[in-house]
Amino acid sequence: MKHLIAPSILAADFANLQRDIEMINNSEADWFHIDVMDGVFVPNISFGIPVIKAIKKHAKKTMDVHLMIVDPDRYITDFKNAGADILTVHYEACSHLHRTIQAIKAEGMQAGISLNPHTPIAVLEDIIQDLDLVLIMSVNPGFGGQSFIENTYKKIIQLRDLIDKSGSKAVIEIDGGVNATNCPKLVAAGADVLVAGSFVFKSENPSETIKVLKHC
Ligand code: DX5
Ligand code: ZN
Repeated sequence: MKHLIAPSILAADFANLQRDIEMINNSEADWFHIDVMDGVFVPNISFGIPVIKAIKKHAKKTMDVHLMIVDPDRYITDFKNAGADILTVHYEACSHLHRTIQAIKAEGMQAGISLNPHTPIAVLEDIIQDLDLVLIMSVNPGFGGQSFIENTYKKIIQLRDLIDKSGSKAVIEIDGGVNATNCPKLVAAGADVLVAGSFVFKSENPSETIKVLKHC
């Protein structure tokens, strides 16, 4: 499949959110990537359910919600009601991942697990069959605008191998420090979805930058 591009709303202009959402609607982007941070799992607070509801009113593409929060089980139904199509939780934030993944699916959403840069791919061995998506963090979660961690390529290759061997249908999403230079290498390694925040929104022409990433 041709790789997908998911611009991260975290880097948008929050005072002009509707304008930035329309830019994504009218661009070659595939998904909206929406980062929720609680100030506990990660050392930053972003935005929550009311803002996601507001985004949903205007967004015409898949809502890909990345939860960087502890105890996500408490809010699964709320995120569904807010408009999430894909809900991704962190491996490091869940004690009963299998239950969490089943609960996300029971709400009719696609279920993803995200791994921090230090977490090996091997921890997914017994749950990969249940997943729709694996998000590999290519920076430490919490902030946009950080530098890409090179060890990510190795993890993509390992994950692709695990997915192929298990017959899982999970797609591989990469999040953090994505730009036009690493884009072709990430796709060649086996990435299906690329999240890009700063590289898109800090560029002169965000729509054109999305196009560059889509065709890298
Ligand atoms: C970081 C978030 C990312 C972030 C990526 O914790 O998960 O989605 O917005 O931003 P850039 O592309 O600027 O690294
Ligand atoms: Zn993210």
